[in-house]
Amino acid sequence: MSFLLGLDIGTSGVKALLMKDTGEVAGSATVEYPLYSPRPGWTEQNPEDMWQASVEAVRKVLAKCGIKGREVKGVGLSGQMHSSVFLDEAYQVIRPAILWNDTRTSGQCRAIQEALDPEMLFSEVCNPVLEGFTLPKVVWLRDNEPDNYARLRWLVLPKDYVRFRLTGELGMEVSDAAGMLMMNIRERKWSLPVLEGLGISPEILPPIIQSAEVAGRITPEVAELTGLAAGTPVVGGGADNACGAVGSGVVKEGRGMISLGTSGVVLAHLTKPRLVRTGTVHMFNSCVPNEFYMMGVTLSAGLSLSWFKEILGAAGASYDELTSWADDSPAGSRGVLFLPYLTGERTPHGDGNARGSFVGLSSANSRGDLVRAVLEGVAFALRDSVELLRSAGWNGTALRGIGGGLKSALWKEIIASVTGLAVQRLNIDEGPAFGAAILAGVGAEVFSSIPEASDAVVRVVDSVDPNPAWQKSYEALYQVYSGLYPALKASFHRLVALQ
Ligand code: XUL
Repeated sequence: MSFLLGLDIGTSGVKALLMKDTGEVAGSATVEYPLYSPRPGWTEQNPEDMWQASVEAVRKVLAKCGIKGREVKGVGLSGQMHSSVFLDEAYQVIRPAILWNDTRTSGQCRAIQEALDPEMLFSEVCNPVLEGFTLPKVVWLRDNEPDNYARLRWLVLPKDYVRFRLTGELGMEVSDAAGMLMMNIRERKWSLPVLEGLGISPEILPPIIQSAEVAGRITPEVAELTGLAAGTPVVGGGADNACGAVGSGVVKEGRGMISLGTSGVVLAHLTKPRLVRTGTVHMFNSCVPNEFYMMGVTLSAGLSLSWFKEILGAAGASYDELTSWADDSPAGSRGVLFLPYLTGERTPHGDGNARGSFVGLSSANSRGDLVRAVLEGVAFALRDSVELLRSAGWNGTALRGIGGGLKSALWKEIIASVTGLAVQRLNIDEGPAFGAAILAGVGAEVFSSIPEASDAVVRVVDSVDPNPAWQKSYEALYQVYSGLYPALKASFHRLVALQ
């Protein structure tokens, strides 16, 4: 028996997962790290924390499963997308990474759009210019921290940084490179027209590598630190959503995925690129060579519930207890609607200054109504993404579910009823780390290809269908929800300006 290791460099911590070569999960370990928010709308993390947590998570999972490093035949990485790791000439981190849900770059997004021909820009990067993506973060660094910008020699994303620390080789894996707004998506090469048009040197970007390609090997020093064997191959890996798709079998046209973690994602696999000009749908490269996916992202999904748990003073309560309060509240939360824009919003509004709101409160409302309103508000935000994917041609009837939020039976039924789609449970719900382990298996030649391996090991085990009575209420409420952002937009912007 041999094993494959998947490492997911997430927003709350690192998850290390060991998979048997038969596709079963041997075990996993998670090590957390802090997220800093030095100003409203800013989110940052230290790449060194990501590295230390990776080392500890690998040691933990090997010990927990009683597996020797030499039994691990390959390592794959997955990671939070778009977050910028800035390195100097000596590969030292220049400043904390600016994360995917940071919204400080609204001005830079406008400046990029003004500086470049919109047709050229869209045809190269195939995506809208949004605050969370990497390119505006580089422009922000140049505008606001010129000394740091002068030191910038290399730009990578979190999982590519951890791969560099594991192997000593610097590369940018293609599915994550896609989310930087710096790559020509269809040709899979750095976009010179975009970079040169903005006066950014393409030299800061390492070579683009493939997801299942062996991109380096564990160094003797890292072997000493982690317990892995020196020389173990490490593959490119993938963006967390791309790896989530591999780890849930969403590797064929028509299949869709919902991921309910810190952010909420609705994703559909595409064999051919599709230029989606409607709104804020993203179109990125899949880990499956030469294939793609489109998705919508609501920034504060699980984050809305964890924030609410915190401010209710219920930090010690379990999520099960919290959602059990909502069991007594009917569909529609007795008239309360929640807009989950706690960190601005990506899809559908593309507005870093949007803010969260409870609307429709009355003195009759209970805390259970408010918890249910949070669950429903996130579901309405996900429906916005589903509608955009539908208008871009996706006609699936079910979503394969991953992520901690879907452990709640209530939330799953609410999402199914709000979107009108069945939410499917899989035999393995380990998310992106599992997809990263599959990629390691393809690179180490344990599996023959990504779609074959993913299809062979992942199965749908059950499905939650829309509840017809709830669906009726939610249709009417979705119309009300859809009117709230346009009605409140100007107030959100004023409030942010007044802060
Ligand atoms: C996707 C995105 C988030 C992060 C979460 O565009 O920003 O889903 O990848 O880690």
